[in-house]
Amino acid sequence: MINKTNILVIGSINMDMVLQTKYVPKEGESTLGKEINYIPGGKGANQAVAVSRLDANVTLVGRVGTDNWGDMLINNLTENKVDISGVFKDEESATGIAVILLEENGANRIIVYPGANSGVSFEDIDRLLNKGCKYDAVLLQLEIPLDTVCYIIEKARKLNIPVILDAGPAQVIPLDKFKGVTIISPNETEAEKLTGIEINNIEDIVKASEIILKETEAKYVVMKLGERGSLIRDNSGYKFIKAFKVSPVDTTAAGDSFTAALTIKYCQGNSIEEAVTYASAVGAITATRFGAQPSLPYHYEVIDFLKGVR
Ligand code: RIB
Repeated sequence: MINKTNILVIGSINMDMVLQTKYVPKEGESTLGKEINYIPGGKGANQAVAVSRLDANVTLVGRVGTDNWGDMLINNLTENKVDISGVFKDEESATGIAVILLEENGANRIIVYPGANSGVSFEDIDRLLNKGCKYDAVLLQLEIPLDTVCYIIEKARKLNIPVILDAGPAQVIPLDKFKGVTIISPNETEAEKLTGIEINNIEDIVKASEIILKETEAKYVVMKLGERGSLIRDNSGYKFIKAFKVSPVDTTAAGDSFTAALTIKYCQGNSIEEAVTYASAVGAITATRFGAQPSLPYHYEVIDFLKGVR
């Protein structure tokens, strides 16, 4: 029997409040929404569920409140075969919430109230990493405190565990905080915030990737560029990987699932190009479906998708 890849995901767990609207109103304008749905989300939880559906073992470290939403989100993680031994119920804070405005064309705007996610602490990490469990990679995003993120990077580096950092949500953070990551994966907006470069064209993308590589000393920078595909940058240069053409319904969690898939394939010893191609397929399928976690594909669906487009 082949041993499954073991991934440790550390990150946010949110209830997504998704309001569908024809268009997002202008300042001072009111409009009627079409539908409202409450859907399990949060970048950390989305990545944990994605990893599980893509056939790897996954343990999640994160926090929810002691409210009903916290219970619902934990149940959903368990149903998706995520090991929740690192998920704590925080008595002091409410479960994180993301308010998502979803337009008819699939574009979204998200505001996150972090709640319990702000409490993810060094101790939460130590409880898991000191247990002596073996992980093939640690997967992180930026919806938990930055100090905790930096602590994890340092700790994983000492333990010789590769760290994959999904640089969302977009924030201005000095790039040298991320020294020690193996792969850093921002989208365009995140790259703009991290580098201060306004991205308008391919040259800007290339320049931003160069700065991120240099300042983080990562092995790879993988930029998620939506319809433009992805850019892989390492010390030998850069390469674009084409996007799969799909009609997006809701892009929520497409970036999350991309990075989760990239992490698994990278850990399994595939080339970075193969890993990014598989990740692009996963992100593309996610964008064709509604909601965060309900939209995440299973490995067999990705295989079928790749057969169909080749
Ligand atoms: O990346 C999408 C996620 O961002 C949503 O599920 C929302 O909860 C926010 O964390």
